[in-house]
Amino acid sequence: ELGPYSHFMQKEIHEQPRAIADTIEGVIDAGTFSAELFGDDAADVLAGIEGVQILACGTSYYAGMTARYWIEAIAGLPCSVEIASEYRYRDVVANPKHLIITLSQSGETLDTMEALKYAKSLGQERTLSICNVPESAIPRASRLVCYTRAGAEIGVASTKAFTTQLVALFTLTATLAKLRGRLDEAREAEYLDALRHLPGSVQHALNLEPQITAWSEHFAPKEHALFLGRGVHYPIALEGALKLKEISYIHAEAYPAGELKHGPLALVTDAMPVVVIAPNDSLLEKVKSNMQEVRARGGELFVFTDEESQFGPSEGVHVIRAPRHVGVLSPVIHTIPVQLLAYHVALARGTDVDKPRNLAKSVTVE
Ligand code: M6R
Repeated sequence: ELGPYSHFMQKEIHEQPRAIADTIEGVIDAGTFSAELFGDDAADVLAGIEGVQILACGTSYYAGMTARYWIEAIAGLPCSVEIASEYRYRDVVANPKHLIITLSQSGETLDTMEALKYAKSLGQERTLSICNVPESAIPRASRLVCYTRAGAEIGVASTKAFTTQLVALFTLTATLAKLRGRLDEAREAEYLDALRHLPGSVQHALNLEPQITAWSEHFAPKEHALFLGRGVHYPIALEGALKLKEISYIHAEAYPAGELKHGPLALVTDAMPVVVIAPNDSLLEKVKSNMQEVRARGGELFVFTDEESQFGPSEGVHVIRAPRHVGVLSPVIHTIPVQLLAYHVALARGTDVDKPRNLAKSVTVE
């Protein structure tokens, strides 16, 4: 069942090119972003929406955080993202013109299900779920459904479910933009092309595994790690920190790099490795100055970037490059190295990678 792999997590990380290709097959075959991809009455449900509320837990919540950047920038809709267990217990000001999106790999997470029920009880009838398990509870309770086609995910640490959620959310974003008259033909062709090339680019990122394995020896003896990112890559830093703490039991935190000076910089010493997600985008110069702040305090940097960025390794600065910057879908590519890092650090520490202590794959209790 594991084939050449040692753990389900490793197998599932390597299945991502296929899982992504399967998830986007419908839109690639159609050659266009259309509402029907989300259900027969999707055009009616999505027409005239004035905002988006995303509800989820854990890794699915970070997929939602990533999507917020896309939904606001590309579809021009205000978007909030909230942890389902918080949303369900507060007095929410409902807006029936907002689309409620629930994200769940299992489709059975109790808090997400209850948050959805609560939203519906407030008159929020436009509901859409992105889910990996057909006919599970959350999609059954939603008006529109989009299934990711990651296949069964066995490892407790979510990997291929996350990247397939991202591509489903990107497809939804482009569809919303189109419905709102914000996607011209050239841009649509560009996005379709980006999706088409994505599985290949993910494979290139997976090929970085030997370099990442070499980094794991720096992390294995440590008790703390900090992850930094900015903009759309900040949620990827959060996801990297969650993966590391979940399976290696190293305490890891993630911060938007611009927040360093407001507190976490006090933690930085040579005992705390700092992982930076630093693709060659419009925020790179800002990230570089945040990196200097870390170096000035003796912090060791482990930087994931891409070929186009003009900086190399130096003392205390380790660099791994993805082959090229893939534009708007860059968060998908930069997820791969943080997954592999967590996996190899856990291996080096000898923890139970697929079944970390105290955790269950599907959280159906409160
Ligand atoms: O099945 P769901 O996507 O609703 O699960 C949500 C979280 O429980 C899940 O993502 C959890 O955080 C993972 N163990 C993260 O790797």
